[in-house]
Amino acid sequence: MSDTANEMASDFGIVIMAAGKGTRLRSARPKVLHQVGGRALLLHVIAAAETTVPADRIAVVVGHQAEQVQAAAAHTGVHFVLQPQQLGTGHALQCVRDWYRDSGTVAPEHLLVLSGDVPLIRPETIARLCDAHLQQHAAMTILTAIPPDPTGYGRVLRKADGDVDAIVEQKSLTPDLLSHPERLREINSGIYAFRTDALFQRLGELRNTNSAGEFYLTDVAAMLVRDGERVVAVAADSVDEVLGANTIAEMMHLDASLREATTQRLMAAGVTIFRPETVTVDAGVEVGADSVLEPFTQLLGNTRVGSGCRIRSYSVVEDSTLGDDVLLRNGCILSQATVEDGALLGPYAHLRPGSRIGRAAHVGNFVETKNTTLGAGSKANHLTYLGDAEVGTGTNIGAGVITCNYDGVHKHRTVIGNGVFVGSNAALVAPLRLEDGSFVAAGSCITDDVPSGALALGRSRQVTKPDWASRKKQMPEPEVR
Ligand code: UD1
Ligand code: MG
Repeated sequence: MSDTANEMASDFGIVIMAAGKGTRLRSARPKVLHQVGGRALLLHVIAAAETTVPADRIAVVVGHQAEQVQAAAAHTGVHFVLQPQQLGTGHALQCVRDWYRDSGTVAPEHLLVLSGDVPLIRPETIARLCDAHLQQHAAMTILTAIPPDPTGYGRVLRKADGDVDAIVEQKSLTPDLLSHPERLREINSGIYAFRTDALFQRLGELRNTNSAGEFYLTDVAAMLVRDGERVVAVAADSVDEVLGANTIAEMMHLDASLREATTQRLMAAGVTIFRPETVTVDAGVEVGADSVLEPFTQLLGNTRVGSGCRIRSYSVVEDSTLGDDVLLRNGCILSQATVEDGALLGPYAHLRPGSRIGRAAHVGNFVETKNTTLGAGSKANHLTYLGDAEVGTGTNIGAGVITCNYDGVHKHRTVIGNGVFVGSNAALVAPLRLEDGSFVAAGSCITDDVPSGALALGRSRQVTKPDWASRKKQMPEPEVR
């Protein structure tokens, strides 16, 4: 934030309008909880707002499915103002005015109003808007842009001196205005700075006598102009950061734009991304230098990848932490997992929540782990399920080994020590301990603990019948009736 805005930040409060239903989405989920770049629209806007003022100076207007919206943003520490019926953006601000009055909270001198459905707004732009608002002693400062297609947005009409005359909603454009398209190119972003008293004094005057039957916040602009107050417009640097997310198509446009910014950020920090347009990386993901992302990889949520890693195609990593020099071969699926330096996974490994893979350990193809620790240098290379297990270091888990962790009612743990050898296709029935240096014979079903250094076999002995095949051939054919 610039110096002026910093000095003045204490005079600003922020309102985020997030009560609307999002009719144009045709979705059961409230609009502001739809995601772009892997994060709810509202959380993007709150994050931007928090760069300007602390969370306790931010009020979020909630209404449609208020409880759900509130639950999703409660951790941020913002205030919530209820707009019980969604009668328009002007009405949303009436609810804010009443909330200040009724809660006894002193309203700040200026209010920055953000829209919950304009998620890509950057802190720098917010700061520039606040600066311009203060410097120009404006009653209202509107953030605007000139997109290739302004259809659907409110349009900012300017006076000859460049100040704002009015905002006219798309639905209220008269034939006269429509005959001058060159005057209708500048859109209202739905983001404004107001002098609070100037705004609050006019909210009571709003009327809903428009085709939408809503109280438009945008009508305040013309009222202020009428009263000789100054209304100015500030153009955003990039069009995308002020675009609204009213339809799924608009959201996917913003999603692509945000993800492109994320891959650009990572590449600038030394990450190689092949065919970056094919990868899906959420906004908050961090990847260390010299790591490589192959095409069609997905890094989601709160994921951290160290340096020197290679994530091969079709791997999906969510809320997981990878150390340095980790190789994820193709098609690995990780969720809430931790992988330490130098580990080697896949292809097609499935790490479910609570999986901790130790330094230089191997987890091979079609191996599933859940709530399991695999110690440093241990290997489970083929076709295995390790659930609720703790495996020490330098242990080998043979192909097809299964921890039988569920008895139909409860989950039980399997504890396997260091340097253990578990033969292929062993079923380990938990609760069970295989102590350090023990061996389990291939094909065993193990139900009892195995002491250190012991060999456990749990299968029937092989029976071999010599010449059985040729004797069978000499047997008479059974009679067919
Ligand atoms: C609004 C502006 C329009 C601007 C556009 C930019 C008005 C009247 N129009 O139109 O000039 O170009 O944003 O994106 O303001 N909301 C409430 N309570 C309500 C209604 C809406 O909190 O009663 C919230 C919505 O959840 C949303 C925001 O306000 O986050 C904007 O509402 P929306 O219905 O999307 O307005 P637009 O038609 O996009
Ligand atoms: Mg909108």
